[in-house]
Amino acid sequence: MKKAYVYIAAIVIVVIGVTLLLLYLSKDDTSSSNPNDLSNLVESKPLPIPPLLEDVNPDPNLAEFHLTAQHGVTEILDGIESETLGYNGNILGPVIKVHEGDRVKVVMKNDLREATTLHWHGLRVDGENDGGPHSGINPGETWEPEFTIEQPAATLWYHPHMMHATAKQVYEGLAGLFIIEDAVSDSLPIPKDYGVNDFPIIIQDKQLDASGNMQYDPGMNDMMMGLYGNAYLVNGAISPYLEVPKGMVRLRLLNGSNGRTYHFELHNGQEFYQIASDGGFLEKPVEMTSLTLSPAERAEILVDFSAFETGDEITLIDTVSELGKTISEDEVEVMKFTVTDTESEAYPIPEQLTEIDNIDPADAVVTREMVMAGVGSTLTINDKSMDMGVIDEVVNLNDTEIWEVSNKRTGVQGGMAHPFHLHGVQFQVIDRDGNPPPANETGWKDTILVEPGETVRIITTFNYKGIFMYHCHILEHEDAGMMGQYEVK
Ligand code: C2O
Ligand code: CU
Ligand code: CU
Repeated sequence: MKKAYVYIAAIVIVVIGVTLLLLYLSKDDTSSSNPNDLSNLVESKPLPIPPLLEDVNPDPNLAEFHLTAQHGVTEILDGIESETLGYNGNILGPVIKVHEGDRVKVVMKNDLREATTLHWHGLRVDGENDGGPHSGINPGETWEPEFTIEQPAATLWYHPHMMHATAKQVYEGLAGLFIIEDAVSDSLPIPKDYGVNDFPIIIQDKQLDASGNMQYDPGMNDMMMGLYGNAYLVNGAISPYLEVPKGMVRLRLLNGSNGRTYHFELHNGQEFYQIASDGGFLEKPVEMTSLTLSPAERAEILVDFSAFETGDEITLIDTVSELGKTISEDEVEVMKFTVTDTESEAYPIPEQLTEIDNIDPADAVVTREMVMAGVGSTLTINDKSMDMGVIDEVVNLNDTEIWEVSNKRTGVQGGMAHPFHLHGVQFQVIDRDGNPPPANETGWKDTILVEPGETVRIITTFNYKGIFMYHCHILEHEDAGMMGQYEVK
């Protein structure tokens, strides 16, 4: 039966004469005509919930967390073990949860066979503690950053940032969530029971080879466009299901993928509410039926499961529309929610979540242009490729600046979108091509997707000293040099 499909597929391909297509079928495709169809090995497992990392320091004024980057083994498909990397485990890392005002110390041990760094994505800290490419940790060594949490409640994350090795290390499993709580999140009547009605959801696509092994082996197309995998993992598991109470559930979504931008929907078209963006709560919940999340972006959403019957299944799907990146179905199932008979507290959608002071563009002392351009290995920002020895921009401490980030339409197929990320700050979006940003981009952000030909203006105040990166968060682009450095002094 399967053989017949293969022959039909092969004949069709030859007739059409699309050689590229053949390449995709052997590497990137998961459809039924794929000779490497491994879907019979996909067994839906319960969604793994990363543990909360314990504060090991008895001193109430200092939270201390220990992380070890290590080698591991993960069974993604039934019976097939892949070599992966994890923090304190086989794949991904525990969730670090802190509170605004906390003094935090982290002891990070590198048990890998290669150098790595530990970057706090979205955290407002000085350059020394940021964990960028200058903070390499050699095998067997330890790095001990220390900082105070001086920003509102948010879902941030941590991952390696080694020059030319970030894509591989994140892909192989090094990533974890870093959650900040504050007085606002403490008092809001929203789900906040970790693992009960408040769930971490880390979505990553991986490339499984013909034998079902997850390996970082990017092809030319992956290097140019960012890696697009043929399997979606959530918290390190393929096609998992999550049992949810009949009630309101909070999902902390992180796109931890190397290259793929998702367009999430619930398969039944049900609406949900975004309550937080990268850097914390939005002022008001934003009702939506579709959410776009580019690499490194986060969104906290509320989903109401109270109208369902016990045993009902609701699927989170990605509606794929990017032609030329991968051949796939219109919709891909990411994970399932299975409604249990637990009636949970009725949480109405709050009217107001927080208050955000908008930074006045008139306060900006400078407008800096950031032009993203090029294709493949010649991807640049302001016509430059990352050089560890060069500081590209110098910012005065406590200055407010506007960064005008544009995406020059170059390369193939009219160009591609790039998620622009800035270290050490959270910023606000002034406008997209002169138009006000959509409602879910009116809060704090640290990563912003810039479409081909588009110009996005962002504004922030630089309150921390040191050397920081700005870059495209498609990790293959970042590693290829689509990154620059700014120094605050
Ligand atoms: Cu998610 Cu430069 O980082
Ligand atoms: Cu970052
Ligand atoms: Cu890019």
